[in-house]
Amino acid sequence: MTTKTYRIAPSILSADFANLGQEVRDVIVAGADWIHFDVMDNHYVPNLTFGPMVCEALKPHAKTPEGVAIPIDVHLMVSPVDALAAAFAQAGADLVSFHPDASTHVHRSIQALRGHGVKVGLTFNPAEPLDVLDWVIDDIDLVLIMSVNPGFGGQSFIDSALRKIEDVRKRIDACGKDIRLEVDGGVTPANAYKVIEAGANALVAGSAVFNSPDYAAAIAGIKASKAPK
Ligand code: DX5
Ligand code: ZN
Repeated sequence: MTTKTYRIAPSILSADFANLGQEVRDVIVAGADWIHFDVMDNHYVPNLTFGPMVCEALKPHAKTPEGVAIPIDVHLMVSPVDALAAAFAQAGADLVSFHPDASTHVHRSIQALRGHGVKVGLTFNPAEPLDVLDWVIDDIDLVLIMSVNPGFGGQSFIDSALRKIEDVRKRIDACGKDIRLEVDGGVTPANAYKVIEAGANALVAGSAVFNSPDYAAAIAGIKASKAPK
């Protein structure tokens, strides 16, 4: 896995909510490849964030100074899934991931979302088994592995996620499709190398980036992450 193949997706959950448009522009200038957009409904997870209207409002800011669009990577921590997933697709999301345990009919939710022309992902909580991938891996574009329990930024990385990342990497390589493997939660410059070695090629980082005084240095630190000598 060469470093140039992976993406850094800062999560705006840890950004300044009073200044989100500027925060999105700043983190893109600092090197963000995607904008990770954590949607929480205070039902599936014990927290409440933002909806499709905020995604629509931020869409014009999700671009480089040269005008190159930066993908909005929506992570739905909501149940039910389908109506909100469609609303985010219409609001300008480029990728929409949902938790299979939040949908009554996972295959139908994937098909419905695909019909809206976005890339579709499934997100797995730390104790969530991967079995559903046996039946739908060929229908998705992204697998998002949670390395924290969903609902909050700034939590510590759960090491068992590394084994799950390795398992998903094997599944993706075996199916032969170009499926992105994203990891979400507690990723920092100190542990990002472990996540990449395990087979991930997209890294979410909320607090490690937005709690840093220098977003570019934080992103560069994640990209340069190495095992201690
Ligand atoms: C947690 C969210 C994560 C979180 C990551 O439910 O899905 O994206 O914001 O934040 P950090 O990187 O601070 O753990
Ligand atoms: Zn997330």
